[in-house]
Amino acid sequence: MIKNVICSSISERRTFAIISHPDAGKSTLTEKFLFLGNIIRQEGMVKAKRSKKYIKSDWMESEKKRGISVTTSVIQIPYHKYLINLLDTPGHEDFSEDTYRVLTAVDFCLIVIDAAKGVEERTKKLISITKMHNIPIITFVNKLDRSSLNFTKLLDQLEIEFNMVCSPITWPINHKYMFYGVYHMLEDVFYFNSEKSICNNSNVFNVVYGLNNVLLKNIFDVEFIAKFREEIELVRLIYKSFDCSSFLKGSLTPVFFGSALKNFGIDHLFKSILHWAPPPTFKISHTRKVKSYEKKFSGFVFKIQANMDLKHRDRIAFIRIVSGKYKKGMKLYHVRTKKYSIKTEVFSFIAGERFLINNAYPGDIIGFHNHNNIKIGDTFTEGEELKFFGISKFAPDIFRFISLDNPLQYKKLLKGLIQLAEEGAIQIFRSITNNKLILGAIGKLQFDIIMERLKIEYNIYAIYNAINIFTVRWIKSKNNDKIVDFKEKYSVNLAVDIDNNLVYLAPTSINLNLIISRYPDIIFCNTCEY
Ligand code: G4P
Repeated sequence: MIKNVICSSISERRTFAIISHPDAGKSTLTEKFLFLGNIIRQEGMVKAKRSKKYIKSDWMESEKKRGISVTTSVIQIPYHKYLINLLDTPGHEDFSEDTYRVLTAVDFCLIVIDAAKGVEERTKKLISITKMHNIPIITFVNKLDRSSLNFTKLLDQLEIEFNMVCSPITWPINHKYMFYGVYHMLEDVFYFNSEKSICNNSNVFNVVYGLNNVLLKNIFDVEFIAKFREEIELVRLIYKSFDCSSFLKGSLTPVFFGSALKNFGIDHLFKSILHWAPPPTFKISHTRKVKSYEKKFSGFVFKIQANMDLKHRDRIAFIRIVSGKYKKGMKLYHVRTKKYSIKTEVFSFIAGERFLINNAYPGDIIGFHNHNNIKIGDTFTEGEELKFFGISKFAPDIFRFISLDNPLQYKKLLKGLIQLAEEGAIQIFRSITNNKLILGAIGKLQFDIIMERLKIEYNIYAIYNAINIFTVRWIKSKNNDKIVDFKEKYSVNLAVDIDNNLVYLAPTSINLNLIISRYPDIIFCNTCEY
Protein backbone atom coordinates (compact mmCIF):
# COMPACT_ATOMS: atom_id res chain seq x y z
CA MET A 1 0.00 0.00 0.00
CA ILE A 2 1.29 3.46 -0.87
CA LYS A 3 2.04 5.61 2.14
CA ASN A 4 0.53 9.05 2.19
CA VAL A 5 3.24 11.30 3.57
CA ILE A 6 2.07 14.74 4.59
CA CYS A 7 4.53 17.55 5.04
CA SER A 8 3.07 20.68 6.50
CA SER A 9 5.10 23.39 4.82
CA ILE A 10 3.15 25.46 2.30
CA SER A 11 6.31 26.68 0.57
CA GLU A 12 7.24 23.10 -0.24
CA ARG A 13 3.97 22.22 -1.90
CA ARG A 14 3.52 22.29 -5.66
CA THR A 15 0.06 21.85 -7.11
CA PHE A 16 -0.12 21.60 -10.89
CA ALA A 17 -1.71 19.95 -13.89
CA ILE A 18 0.00 18.33 -16.85
CA ILE A 19 -1.79 19.18 -20.04
CA SER A 20 -1.19 18.14 -23.61
CA HIS A 21 -2.74 16.99 -26.80
CA PRO A 22 -3.41 13.21 -26.69
CA ASP A 23 -0.30 11.11 -27.29
CA ALA A 24 2.21 13.88 -26.62
CA GLY A 25 3.54 11.81 -23.71
CA LYS A 26 1.69 13.09 -20.64
CA SER A 27 1.19 9.64 -19.10
CA THR A 28 4.77 8.61 -19.79
CA LEU A 29 6.03 11.78 -18.12
CA THR A 30 3.67 11.31 -15.17
CA GLU A 31 5.14 7.85 -14.76
CA LYS A 32 8.62 9.35 -14.46
CA PHE A 33 7.37 11.71 -11.76
CA LEU A 34 5.79 8.80 -9.88
CA PHE A 35 9.06 6.94 -10.16
CA LEU A 36 11.01 9.93 -8.82
CA GLY A 37 8.62 10.09 -5.88
CA ASN A 38 8.93 6.33 -5.22
CA ILE A 39 5.20 5.92 -5.80
CA ILE A 40 6.15 3.22 -8.24
CA ARG A 41 9.32 1.23 -7.86
CA GLN A 42 9.87 0.27 -11.42
CA GLU A 43 9.55 2.22 -14.63
CA GLY A 44 7.18 0.66 -17.09
CA MET A 45 4.81 -0.24 -14.26
CA VAL A 46 2.43 2.54 -15.16
CA LYS A 47 2.47 1.69 -18.81
CA ALA A 48 1.68 -1.89 -17.88
CA LYS A 49 -1.09 -0.71 -15.63
CA ARG A 50 -2.09 2.24 -17.72
CA SER A 51 -5.63 1.05 -18.10
CA LYS A 52 -5.71 0.21 -14.41
CA LYS A 53 -5.28 2.39 -11.43
CA TYR A 54 -2.17 4.53 -11.63
CA ILE A 55 -2.44 6.87 -14.53
CA LYS A 56 -5.80 6.38 -16.06
CA SER A 57 -8.72 5.80 -13.81
CA ASP A 58 -11.15 3.01 -14.50
CA TRP A 59 -14.08 4.26 -12.52
CA MET A 60 -16.65 4.23 -15.25
CA GLU A 61 -17.93 1.47 -17.47
CA SER A 62 -17.27 3.62 -20.54
CA GLU A 63 -13.69 4.04 -19.47
CA LYS A 64 -13.24 0.32 -19.01
CA LYS A 65 -14.69 -0.42 -22.41
CA ARG A 66 -12.64 2.19 -24.16
CA GLY A 67 -9.49 1.91 -22.06
CA ILE A 68 -9.40 5.65 -21.54
CA SER A 69 -9.77 8.10 -18.75
CA VAL A 70 -12.77 10.40 -18.83
CA THR A 71 -12.08 12.24 -15.64
CA THR A 72 -9.22 13.90 -13.91
CA SER A 73 -7.26 12.02 -11.31
CA VAL A 74 -5.24 13.47 -8.48
CA ILE A 75 -1.83 12.12 -7.58
CA GLN A 76 0.12 13.11 -4.48
CA ILE A 77 3.88 12.59 -4.80
CA PRO A 78 6.21 13.14 -1.84
CA TYR A 79 9.68 14.10 -3.03
CA HIS A 80 12.40 14.83 -0.44
CA LYS A 81 11.00 17.73 1.59
CA TYR A 82 8.43 18.56 -1.12
CA LEU A 83 4.89 17.40 -1.66
CA ILE A 84 3.67 17.46 -5.23
CA ASN A 85 -0.03 17.45 -6.00
CA LEU A 86 -0.36 16.48 -9.63
CA LEU A 87 -3.75 16.75 -11.26
CA ASP A 88 -3.76 14.46 -14.24
CA THR A 89 -6.21 15.37 -16.96
CA PRO A 90 -7.82 13.05 -19.51
CA GLY A 91 -5.70 12.79 -22.59
CA HIS A 92 -8.11 11.38 -25.13
CA GLU A 93 -9.78 13.31 -27.91
CA ASP A 94 -13.05 13.67 -26.10
CA PHE A 95 -11.96 15.29 -22.92
CA SER A 96 -14.53 17.14 -20.86
CA GLU A 97 -15.19 20.44 -19.14
CA ASP A 98 -13.67 18.83 -16.07
CA THR A 99 -10.24 19.42 -17.61
CA TYR A 100 -10.91 23.15 -17.90
CA ARG A 101 -12.06 23.37 -14.29
CA VAL A 102 -8.99 21.56 -13.00
CA LEU A 103 -7.03 24.54 -14.23
CA THR A 104 -8.79 26.67 -11.59
CA ALA A 105 -7.48 24.39 -8.84
CA VAL A 106 -3.78 24.46 -9.74
CA ASP A 107 -0.99 26.95 -9.17
CA PHE A 108 0.77 26.31 -12.48
CA CYS A 109 0.71 24.01 -15.49
CA LEU A 110 3.15 21.79 -17.28
CA ILE A 111 2.51 21.60 -21.00
CA VAL A 112 3.85 18.66 -22.96
CA ILE A 113 4.44 19.18 -26.67
CA ASP A 114 5.30 16.47 -29.17
CA ALA A 115 8.48 17.73 -30.87
CA ALA A 116 7.39 16.37 -34.24
CA LYS A 117 3.91 17.85 -34.12
CA GLY A 118 4.32 21.20 -32.40
CA VAL A 119 1.31 22.93 -30.86
CA GLU A 120 -1.80 20.87 -31.54
CA GLU A 121 -5.48 21.78 -31.33
CA ARG A 122 -6.22 20.55 -27.81
CA THR A 123 -3.17 22.34 -26.43
CA LYS A 124 -4.30 25.63 -27.98
CA LYS A 125 -7.67 25.39 -26.27
CA LEU A 126 -6.14 24.54 -22.91
CA ILE A 127 -3.65 27.38 -23.22
CA SER A 128 -6.49 29.82 -23.74
CA ILE A 129 -7.99 28.68 -20.42
CA THR A 130 -4.68 28.97 -18.55
CA LYS A 131 -4.38 32.50 -19.95
CA MET A 132 -7.79 33.37 -18.51
CA HIS A 133 -6.42 32.53 -15.06
CA ASN A 134 -2.88 33.86 -15.61
CA ILE A 135 -1.43 30.51 -14.62
CA PRO A 136 2.34 30.17 -15.01
CA ILE A 137 3.29 27.59 -17.63
CA ILE A 138 6.34 25.34 -17.91
CA THR A 139 6.84 23.75 -21.34
CA PHE A 140 8.36 20.36 -22.02
CA VAL A 141 9.11 19.48 -25.64
CA ASN A 142 8.97 15.69 -25.69
CA LYS A 143 10.02 12.82 -27.98
CA LEU A 144 13.38 14.33 -28.90
CA ASP A 145 14.66 10.81 -29.49
CA ARG A 146 12.63 10.83 -32.68
CA SER A 147 12.69 13.21 -35.62
CA SER A 148 11.33 16.61 -34.73
CA LEU A 149 10.45 19.99 -36.17
CA ASN A 150 13.17 22.61 -36.43
CA PHE A 151 13.66 23.80 -32.84
CA THR A 152 13.61 27.54 -33.51
CA LYS A 153 10.51 27.14 -35.70
CA LEU A 154 8.91 25.16 -32.88
CA LEU A 155 9.65 27.87 -30.31
CA ASP A 156 8.41 30.57 -32.68
CA GLN A 157 5.17 28.62 -33.05
CA LEU A 158 4.92 28.30 -29.25
CA GLU A 159 5.40 32.05 -28.82
CA ILE A 160 2.63 32.80 -31.31
CA GLU A 161 0.17 30.20 -30.08
CA PHE A 162 0.83 30.77 -26.37
CA ASN A 163 1.11 34.52 -26.82
CA MET A 164 3.99 34.49 -24.39
CA VAL A 165 7.75 34.69 -24.47
CA CYS A 166 9.65 31.38 -24.64
CA SER A 167 12.87 31.04 -22.72
CA PRO A 168 14.76 27.85 -23.58
CA ILE A 169 16.44 26.50 -20.45
CA THR A 170 17.90 23.48 -22.19
CA TRP A 171 18.76 23.17 -25.87
CA PRO A 172 18.91 19.85 -27.75
CA ILE A 173 22.16 18.49 -29.12
CA ASN A 174 21.30 16.87 -32.40
CA HIS A 175 24.26 15.36 -34.15
CA LYS A 176 24.01 13.41 -37.40
CA TYR A 177 20.22 13.22 -36.99
CA MET A 178 20.61 11.66 -33.55
CA PHE A 179 19.59 13.19 -30.24
CA TYR A 180 22.65 13.20 -27.99
CA GLY A 181 21.39 15.21 -25.07
CA VAL A 182 20.92 18.81 -24.05
CA TYR A 183 22.98 21.85 -23.30
CA HIS A 184 21.75 23.65 -20.17
CA MET A 185 21.65 27.36 -21.05
CA LEU A 186 21.71 28.60 -17.44
CA GLU A 187 24.17 26.13 -15.98
CA ASP A 188 26.47 26.11 -19.06
CA VAL A 189 26.63 22.33 -18.88
CA PHE A 190 26.26 19.58 -21.47
CA TYR A 191 24.24 16.57 -20.45
CA PHE A 192 24.55 13.64 -22.79
CA ASN A 193 25.44 10.06 -23.28
CA SER A 194 28.97 10.00 -24.63
CA GLU A 195 28.84 6.41 -25.82
CA LYS A 196 25.68 6.30 -27.80
CA SER A 197 22.97 8.72 -28.75
CA ILE A 198 19.84 8.87 -26.59
CA CYS A 199 17.98 7.23 -29.44
CA ASN A 200 19.57 4.05 -28.13
CA ASN A 201 18.64 2.73 -24.75
CA SER A 202 21.12 3.64 -22.07
CA ASN A 203 20.62 5.14 -18.67
CA VAL A 204 24.16 6.42 -18.20
CA PHE A 205 24.45 10.14 -18.86
CA ASN A 206 27.61 12.22 -18.67
CA VAL A 207 28.19 15.90 -18.12
CA VAL A 208 30.71 18.29 -19.60
CA TYR A 209 31.00 21.71 -18.03
CA GLY A 210 31.20 24.75 -20.29
CA LEU A 211 30.45 25.50 -23.92
CA ASN A 212 34.19 25.94 -24.55
CA ASN A 213 35.36 22.84 -22.73
CA VAL A 214 38.12 21.07 -24.69
CA LEU A 215 36.72 17.69 -23.62
CA LEU A 216 33.94 18.17 -26.15
CA LYS A 217 36.49 17.30 -28.84
CA ASN A 218 36.62 13.77 -27.46
CA ILE A 219 32.94 13.37 -28.21
CA PHE A 220 32.04 15.41 -31.27
CA ASP A 221 33.94 16.48 -34.35
CA VAL A 222 35.37 20.01 -34.31
CA GLU A 223 33.09 21.23 -37.05
CA PHE A 224 29.98 20.21 -35.13
CA ILE A 225 31.22 21.87 -31.91
CA ALA A 226 31.85 25.17 -33.75
CA LYS A 227 28.39 25.01 -35.33
CA PHE A 228 26.71 24.19 -32.03
CA ARG A 229 28.43 27.14 -30.31
CA GLU A 230 27.13 29.41 -33.07
CA GLU A 231 23.67 27.93 -32.63
CA ILE A 232 23.72 28.63 -28.88
CA GLU A 233 24.89 32.19 -29.53
CA LEU A 234 21.97 32.67 -31.87
CA VAL A 235 19.51 31.12 -29.42
CA ARG A 236 20.73 33.51 -26.72
CA LEU A 237 20.24 36.41 -29.12
CA ILE A 238 16.76 35.45 -30.29
CA TYR A 239 15.14 34.28 -27.07
CA LYS A 240 14.80 36.01 -23.74
CA SER A 241 16.79 34.70 -20.86
CA PHE A 242 14.77 33.24 -18.03
CA ASP A 243 13.19 35.72 -15.65
CA CYS A 244 11.26 34.19 -12.76
CA SER A 245 8.92 37.14 -12.18
CA SER A 246 7.73 37.10 -15.83
CA PHE A 247 7.22 33.34 -15.50
CA LEU A 248 5.16 33.80 -12.33
CA LYS A 249 3.07 36.49 -14.04
CA GLY A 250 2.35 34.07 -16.88
CA SER A 251 4.09 36.11 -19.58
CA LEU A 252 7.14 33.85 -20.06
CA THR A 253 7.42 30.09 -20.25
CA PRO A 254 10.67 28.22 -19.56
CA VAL A 255 11.13 25.53 -22.21
CA PHE A 256 12.83 22.17 -21.64
CA PHE A 257 13.67 19.55 -24.23
CA GLY A 258 13.88 15.83 -23.62
CA SER A 259 12.38 12.43 -23.95
CA ALA A 260 9.96 11.10 -21.38
CA LEU A 261 10.29 7.59 -22.74
CA LYS A 262 14.08 7.60 -22.52
CA ASN A 263 13.92 9.43 -19.20
CA PHE A 264 16.08 12.24 -20.52
CA GLY A 265 15.67 15.86 -19.47
CA ILE A 266 13.08 15.05 -16.80
CA ASP A 267 15.41 15.93 -13.93
CA HIS A 268 15.92 19.47 -15.28
CA LEU A 269 12.21 19.86 -15.59
CA PHE A 270 11.58 18.52 -12.12
CA LYS A 271 14.16 20.89 -10.61
CA SER A 272 12.42 23.86 -12.20
CA ILE A 273 9.11 22.71 -10.74
CA LEU A 274 10.66 22.60 -7.29
CA HIS A 275 12.71 25.80 -7.53
CA TRP A 276 10.78 28.21 -9.75
CA ALA A 277 7.17 27.12 -9.77
CA PRO A 278 4.93 28.84 -7.26
CA PRO A 279 3.73 27.22 -4.04
CA PRO A 280 0.12 27.95 -3.05
CA THR A 281 -0.11 31.69 -2.46
CA PHE A 282 -3.66 33.09 -2.48
CA LYS A 283 -7.05 32.94 -4.13
CA ILE A 284 -9.37 35.85 -4.78
CA SER A 285 -12.83 35.62 -3.25
CA HIS A 286 -15.83 37.92 -3.71
CA THR A 287 -14.94 39.70 -0.50
CA ARG A 288 -11.15 39.50 -0.17
CA LYS A 289 -7.87 37.90 -1.13
CA VAL A 290 -7.47 34.71 0.90
CA LYS A 291 -3.83 33.93 1.58
CA SER A 292 -2.54 30.38 1.92
CA TYR A 293 -0.79 30.97 5.24
CA GLU A 294 -3.94 32.26 6.99
CA LYS A 295 -4.80 30.19 10.06
CA LYS A 296 -8.39 29.40 9.19
CA PHE A 297 -9.34 26.70 6.77
CA SER A 298 -10.92 27.52 3.43
CA GLY A 299 -11.30 25.51 0.25
CA PHE A 300 -13.50 25.21 -2.81
CA VAL A 301 -15.08 22.36 -4.74
CA PHE A 302 -13.79 22.13 -8.31
CA LYS A 303 -14.95 18.65 -9.19
CA ILE A 304 -17.50 16.05 -8.25
CA GLN A 305 -16.74 12.50 -9.19
CA ALA A 306 -19.47 9.90 -9.22
CA ASN A 307 -18.99 6.14 -9.12
CA MET A 308 -15.41 6.11 -7.91
CA ASP A 309 -16.52 3.12 -5.92
CA LEU A 310 -19.04 1.34 -8.09
CA LYS A 311 -20.13 -0.94 -5.24
CA HIS A 312 -21.34 2.02 -3.25
CA ARG A 313 -22.31 4.34 -6.11
CA ASP A 314 -20.76 7.19 -4.21
CA ARG A 315 -20.08 10.74 -5.24
CA ILE A 316 -16.92 12.40 -4.04
CA ALA A 317 -16.46 16.16 -3.89
CA PHE A 318 -12.88 17.26 -4.62
CA ILE A 319 -11.79 20.29 -2.63
CA ARG A 320 -8.72 22.40 -3.25
CA ILE A 321 -7.51 23.81 0.07
CA VAL A 322 -6.80 27.53 -0.19
CA SER A 323 -5.85 28.42 3.40
CA GLY A 324 -5.44 27.00 6.89
CA LYS A 325 -5.19 23.38 7.85
CA TYR A 326 -7.69 20.58 7.64
CA LYS A 327 -7.68 18.57 10.87
CA LYS A 328 -9.62 15.38 11.31
CA GLY A 329 -12.83 15.99 13.22
CA MET A 330 -12.93 19.74 12.59
CA LYS A 331 -16.27 21.43 11.89
CA LEU A 332 -16.56 22.65 8.31
CA TYR A 333 -18.97 25.39 7.30
CA HIS A 334 -20.66 24.82 3.94
CA VAL A 335 -21.13 28.43 2.84
CA ARG A 336 -23.95 27.95 0.30
CA THR A 337 -26.16 25.83 2.56
CA LYS A 338 -25.01 27.71 5.71
CA LYS A 339 -24.57 24.41 7.55
CA TYR A 340 -21.78 23.09 9.76
CA SER A 341 -20.76 19.47 9.61
CA ILE A 342 -17.94 17.16 10.64
CA LYS A 343 -16.76 14.97 7.79
CA THR A 344 -16.13 11.49 9.07
CA GLU A 345 -14.09 10.38 6.10
CA VAL A 346 -11.72 12.75 4.32
CA PHE A 347 -9.52 11.38 1.56
CA SER A 348 -6.39 12.07 -0.35
CA PHE A 349 -5.89 10.37 -3.73
CA ILE A 350 -3.58 8.55 -6.01
CA ALA A 351 -5.67 8.26 -9.16
CA GLY A 352 -8.47 5.77 -8.41
CA GLU A 353 -7.09 4.92 -4.97
CA ARG A 354 -8.03 6.95 -1.94
CA PHE A 355 -6.57 7.18 1.54
CA LEU A 356 -8.12 8.41 4.73
CA ILE A 357 -6.19 11.40 6.04
CA ASN A 358 -6.02 13.30 9.32
CA ASN A 359 -4.41 16.52 8.11
CA ALA A 360 -4.16 18.48 4.90
CA TYR A 361 -2.71 21.84 3.92
CA PRO A 362 -3.08 24.60 1.29
CA GLY A 363 -2.45 23.25 -2.18
CA ASP A 364 -3.69 19.78 -1.25
CA ILE A 365 -6.72 18.23 -2.85
CA ILE A 366 -8.99 16.46 -0.41
CA GLY A 367 -12.23 14.68 -1.00
CA PHE A 368 -15.30 13.75 0.93
CA HIS A 369 -18.61 12.07 0.29
CA ASN A 370 -21.25 14.19 -1.32
CA HIS A 371 -24.81 13.22 -0.50
CA ASN A 372 -26.26 15.35 -3.29
CA ASN A 373 -25.86 18.57 -1.32
CA ILE A 374 -22.47 19.76 -2.57
CA LYS A 375 -22.07 21.56 -5.90
CA ILE A 376 -19.07 22.59 -7.94
CA GLY A 377 -18.01 26.09 -6.87
CA ASP A 378 -19.10 25.59 -3.24
CA THR A 379 -16.85 26.87 -0.47
CA PHE A 380 -16.01 25.27 2.88
CA THR A 381 -14.62 27.44 5.67
CA GLU A 382 -14.55 27.57 9.47
CA GLY A 383 -17.48 29.99 9.42
CA GLU A 384 -16.55 32.86 7.10
CA GLU A 385 -18.87 33.69 4.19
CA LEU A 386 -16.42 33.22 1.33
CA LYS A 387 -17.02 32.55 -2.34
CA PHE A 388 -14.00 32.11 -4.59
CA PHE A 389 -13.77 33.58 -8.08
CA GLY A 390 -12.88 31.69 -11.21
CA ILE A 391 -14.74 28.39 -10.86
CA SER A 392 -16.73 28.52 -14.06
CA LYS A 393 -18.93 26.75 -16.51
CA PHE A 394 -17.55 27.00 -20.05
CA ALA A 395 -19.54 27.42 -23.24
CA PRO A 396 -19.90 23.86 -24.61
CA ASP A 397 -18.71 22.99 -28.11
CA ILE A 398 -21.38 20.45 -29.04
CA PHE A 399 -25.08 20.17 -28.35
CA ARG A 400 -27.86 17.59 -28.44
CA PHE A 401 -31.55 17.83 -27.92
CA ILE A 402 -32.66 15.10 -25.52
CA SER A 403 -36.10 13.48 -25.67
CA LEU A 404 -37.84 10.50 -24.13
CA ASP A 405 -39.59 7.39 -25.40
CA ASN A 406 -41.94 7.82 -22.50
CA PRO A 407 -42.84 11.51 -21.94
CA LEU A 408 -44.14 10.64 -18.46
CA GLN A 409 -40.51 10.28 -17.39
CA TYR A 410 -39.83 13.99 -18.02
CA LYS A 411 -39.64 14.92 -14.32
CA LYS A 412 -37.39 11.97 -13.57
CA LEU A 413 -35.18 12.89 -16.54
CA LEU A 414 -34.93 16.47 -15.35
CA LYS A 415 -33.97 15.35 -11.86
CA GLY A 416 -31.31 13.00 -13.21
CA LEU A 417 -29.90 15.57 -15.57
CA ILE A 418 -29.78 18.22 -12.85
CA GLN A 419 -27.76 15.88 -10.66
CA LEU A 420 -25.40 15.09 -13.51
CA ALA A 421 -25.09 18.78 -14.37
CA GLU A 422 -24.30 19.57 -10.74
CA GLU A 423 -21.38 17.18 -11.03
CA GLY A 424 -20.25 19.16 -14.06
CA ALA A 425 -20.63 16.06 -16.24
CA ILE A 426 -22.83 17.92 -18.73
CA GLN A 427 -24.62 21.24 -19.07
CA ILE A 428 -28.37 21.51 -19.45
CA PHE A 429 -30.22 24.37 -21.08
CA ARG A 430 -34.00 24.62 -20.93
CA SER A 431 -35.60 26.55 -23.76
CA ILE A 432 -37.65 29.46 -22.39
CA THR A 433 -40.31 29.01 -25.07
CA ASN A 434 -41.02 25.27 -24.96
CA ASN A 435 -39.11 23.76 -21.99
CA LYS A 436 -37.17 21.48 -24.35
CA LEU A 437 -33.96 20.18 -22.81
CA ILE A 438 -30.73 20.80 -24.67
CA LEU A 439 -27.50 19.23 -23.48
CA GLY A 440 -24.12 20.78 -24.08
CA ALA A 441 -20.66 19.23 -23.70
CA ILE A 442 -17.05 19.93 -24.57
CA GLY A 443 -16.40 16.44 -25.95
CA LYS A 444 -18.74 13.94 -27.65
CA LEU A 445 -17.93 11.18 -25.20
CA GLN A 446 -19.77 13.08 -22.46
CA PHE A 447 -23.05 12.38 -24.26
CA ASP A 448 -22.40 8.62 -24.27
CA ILE A 449 -21.53 8.72 -20.58
CA ILE A 450 -24.71 10.63 -19.73
CA MET A 451 -26.88 8.19 -21.69
CA GLU A 452 -25.23 5.26 -19.92
CA ARG A 453 -25.61 6.83 -16.48
CA LEU A 454 -29.25 7.76 -17.12
CA LYS A 455 -29.91 4.12 -17.91
CA ILE A 456 -27.91 2.56 -15.08
CA GLU A 457 -28.47 5.04 -12.27
CA TYR A 458 -31.93 6.47 -13.08
CA ASN A 459 -33.51 3.78 -15.26
CA ILE A 460 -34.28 6.35 -17.94
CA TYR A 461 -34.19 5.58 -21.66
CA ALA A 462 -33.66 8.77 -23.60
CA ILE A 463 -32.76 9.61 -27.18
CA TYR A 464 -30.52 12.31 -28.58
CA ASN A 465 -31.40 14.36 -31.62
CA ALA A 466 -29.19 16.73 -33.54
CA ILE A 467 -29.77 20.42 -32.91
CA ASN A 468 -28.40 23.39 -34.76
CA ILE A 469 -26.49 25.29 -32.10
CA PHE A 470 -23.02 26.67 -32.70
CA THR A 471 -22.40 27.88 -29.17
CA VAL A 472 -24.01 29.52 -26.14
CA ARG A 473 -23.36 32.84 -24.46
CA TRP A 474 -24.47 33.80 -20.97
CA ILE A 475 -26.06 37.21 -21.24
CA LYS A 476 -26.01 40.06 -18.78
CA SER A 477 -26.62 43.78 -18.83
CA LYS A 478 -26.61 46.65 -16.37
CA ASN A 479 -29.67 47.92 -18.17
CA ASN A 480 -32.54 45.51 -17.53
CA ASP A 481 -34.70 47.11 -20.27
CA LYS A 482 -32.16 45.94 -22.83
CA ILE A 483 -32.54 42.37 -21.60
CA VAL A 484 -36.35 42.64 -21.70
CA ASP A 485 -36.19 43.96 -25.24
CA PHE A 486 -33.71 41.24 -26.24
CA LYS A 487 -35.90 38.56 -24.67
CA GLU A 488 -38.91 39.70 -26.67
CA LYS A 489 -37.06 39.64 -29.96
CA TYR A 490 -35.02 36.48 -29.57
CA SER A 491 -37.05 34.26 -27.25
CA VAL A 492 -36.69 31.31 -29.65
CA ASN A 493 -32.92 31.42 -29.17
CA LEU A 494 -33.04 31.82 -25.41
CA ALA A 495 -32.75 29.24 -22.67
CA VAL A 496 -31.82 29.06 -19.00
CA ASP A 497 -29.03 26.99 -17.53
CA ILE A 498 -29.27 24.85 -14.40
CA ASP A 499 -28.94 27.93 -12.16
CA ASN A 500 -31.55 29.88 -14.15
CA ASN A 501 -28.99 32.11 -15.86
CA LEU A 502 -30.17 33.35 -19.23
CA VAL A 503 -28.23 32.12 -22.26
CA TYR A 504 -28.32 32.90 -25.94
CA LEU A 505 -28.19 29.82 -28.20
CA ALA A 506 -26.35 30.99 -31.30
CA PRO A 507 -27.05 28.92 -34.43
CA THR A 508 -23.90 30.12 -36.24
CA SER A 509 -20.81 32.19 -35.56
CA ILE A 510 -22.03 34.80 -38.06
CA ASN A 511 -25.31 35.09 -36.18
CA LEU A 512 -23.46 35.46 -32.87
CA ASN A 513 -21.22 38.23 -34.18
CA LEU A 514 -24.20 40.04 -35.67
CA ILE A 515 -26.16 39.87 -32.41
CA ILE A 516 -23.17 41.05 -30.39
CA SER A 517 -22.72 44.04 -32.69
CA ARG A 518 -26.45 44.87 -32.53
CA TYR A 519 -26.58 44.82 -28.72
CA PRO A 520 -23.56 46.71 -27.40
CA ASP A 521 -25.20 47.13 -23.96
CA ILE A 522 -25.46 43.40 -23.45
CA ILE A 523 -22.48 41.31 -22.38
CA PHE A 524 -22.21 37.93 -24.08
CA CYS A 525 -19.96 35.77 -21.90
CA ASN A 526 -18.43 32.44 -22.88
CA THR A 527 -18.04 31.42 -19.24
CA CYS A 528 -20.28 31.71 -16.21
CA GLU A 529 -19.19 31.58 -12.59
CA TYR A 530 -20.77 28.88 -10.46
P1 G4P B 1 -0.57 10.85 -23.53
O1 G4P B 1 -0.71 10.44 -22.11
O2 G4P B 1 -0.17 12.27 -23.71
O3 G4P B 1 -1.74 10.48 -24.39
O4 G4P B 1 0.68 10.03 -24.17
P2 G4P B 1 1.41 8.71 -23.65
O5 G4P B 1 2.30 9.00 -22.52
O6 G4P B 1 0.40 7.63 -23.51
O7 G4P B 1 2.35 8.45 -24.92
C1 G4P B 1 1.81 8.23 -26.20
C2 G4P B 1 2.79 7.38 -27.00
O8 G4P B 1 4.01 8.11 -27.13
C3 G4P B 1 3.17 6.08 -26.29
O9 G4P B 1 3.45 5.14 -27.29
C4 G4P B 1 4.46 6.42 -25.59
O10 G4P B 1 5.27 5.31 -25.34
C5 G4P B 1 5.09 7.35 -26.61
N1 G4P B 1 6.06 8.27 -26.01
C6 G4P B 1 5.93 9.03 -24.89
N2 G4P B 1 7.06 9.74 -24.67
C7 G4P B 1 7.91 9.43 -25.67
C8 G4P B 1 9.25 9.82 -25.99
O11 G4P B 1 9.90 10.59 -25.33
N3 G4P B 1 9.78 9.26 -27.13
C9 G4P B 1 9.10 8.38 -27.91
N4 G4P B 1 9.71 7.90 -28.98
N5 G4P B 1 7.86 7.98 -27.62
C10 G4P B 1 7.28 8.49 -26.52
P3 G4P B 1 2.37 4.06 -27.73
O12 G4P B 1 3.04 3.19 -28.72
O13 G4P B 1 1.11 4.75 -28.15
O14 G4P B 1 2.01 3.33 -26.40
P4 G4P B 1 2.85 2.18 -25.68
O15 G4P B 1 2.63 0.97 -26.47
O16 G4P B 1 4.28 2.63 -25.68
O17 G4P B 1 2.21 2.14 -24.31
